[in-house]
Amino acid sequence: MAEKQKKLPKYLSLFNDIKSQIDEGFYSPGEKLPSVRKLSEMRGLSITTINRAYQELEFCGCVTVLPQSGYYVAIQPDYKPPQTSFKITDPQSVDVIKLVNLVFHDTTDQSLLQFGAGIPPADMLPIPQLNKILIKILQSKSIQQNVTGTAEGHASLREQIARYMFLLNSKVQPDDILITSGCNEAIYLAFASICQPGDHVAVETPCYFGILHILQVLGIKVIEIPADPKTGIDLDVLEFGLKHYKVKAVYVNSNCNNPLGSTIPTENKKELVKIAGKFNVPIIEDDSTGELYFSKNRPSTVKSFDKEGNVIYCSSFSKVISPTYRIGWIIPGKYIDQVAQMKQAINVGSATLQQVTLAEYLDSGQYERHLRRIRRAYSQKVRLMYDAVLNYFPDQTYVTNPQGGYSLWVQLPPKVNALDLYWKLKKIKISICPGAIFTVDHKYDNHLRLSASFYSNELSIFVKTLGDEVKKLA
Ligand SMILES: Cc1ncc(COP(=O)(O)O)c(C=O)c1O
Repeated sequence: MAEKQKKLPKYLSLFNDIKSQIDEGFYSPGEKLPSVRKLSEMRGLSITTINRAYQELEFCGCVTVLPQSGYYVAIQPDYKPPQTSFKITDPQSVDVIKLVNLVFHDTTDQSLLQFGAGIPPADMLPIPQLNKILIKILQSKSIQQNVTGTAEGHASLREQIARYMFLLNSKVQPDDILITSGCNEAIYLAFASICQPGDHVAVETPCYFGILHILQVLGIKVIEIPADPKTGIDLDVLEFGLKHYKVKAVYVNSNCNNPLGSTIPTENKKELVKIAGKFNVPIIEDDSTGELYFSKNRPSTVKSFDKEGNVIYCSSFSKVISPTYRIGWIIPGKYIDQVAQMKQAINVGSATLQQVTLAEYLDSGQYERHLRRIRRAYSQKVRLMYDAVLNYFPDQTYVTNPQGGYSLWVQLPPKVNALDLYWKLKKIKISICPGAIFTVDHKYDNHLRLSASFYSNELSIFVKTLGDEVKKLA
């Protein structure tokens, strides 16, 4: 997209600098940060600007203020990540559809408090800007004459996506891209194009339940590869799996993972491409959450290290621009012919009006600013919900400290069954997402995913209610 480079406000640029120094360990937890006056002199900025930057850092939980003393790097409460290091399991059939239907139904139930829904709230979407563009397009003659669209998608949107991919270090042409109806369709097309019923695929575990749903529908068996809450899929176990089973594809949600919040480190991404190449197994990369990072820079993609066309890259605008539009894309690499045929057979092409609107929005230069706003908001929401879980849940609860997205993965005390908890909470109008839905093998019966997308401080009382219910079951 045509990115108009605008200068960040001074306080935000200082905020970023201090935050990255903290993230990189330049300042340790509990250490005093430079005083407001000293920073003002050093950086040539006003006292108001320095105060604003520190207030923002305080708000997102990175620093604490001690009256009459100054600002200090926040000490995070004793943090232990959930345990996800289960051993590899033999290929298994998937049986998640009933639960998936329940959870999807909850997301549309307005009477529920949405702690389970992995969807963005309306105020995190650029709805007025999209509406303006949409109205303009509806009034223009060109769209009235061009209603059918094509299987590969509208040229203007593919052009915008090719430019975006260039920023992610992937040189692709618009012709290498197919527009899809969301990321789920992209992933469906990828699996359906390279696998037959009964084949085996390797997926990270826990795995976003939409993927397990697709695999169940396609009759594909699953080998679950453990994933770490910080670094994602375990490459040693994956290599072992590829050596010992006939695997047709590997699926990873590479950045700001749903549900773990993990991001695969760049070195591991390179290694993943090498390992998959060695066994000649395609990687299906789901990067639909990749823009929701909390770090300074956009995490890399697995695709950017792929020289052989062996990575099938899938993404969408559902999380960041609008789930209503449900527009995504796939870059199938060397599998483009199979995928294009499959797409045409399924629905001829995705809705044109949404595609043209998105293309104009991306071209308008508003996207980057919007992304900065929502990243900041989600990082604050996640931090607040994380603190509330640590405050209100009983001992033997572990929770992830996500690097992006809006999911928190919570491991409850061993005796607590998250599905029992789900039904109890539903009676009092709170929705959660039970861990059982993220696996084919009952690995996460005492886990749940909480979504912070709708969270604000005023809702902490409901996290307390949730914690109290957990205590009763523990
Ligand atoms: C990791 C992941 N992949 C894919 C999807 C589906 O994306 P879409 O709504 O664009 O089909 C989601 C949606 O929640 C997701 O979290």
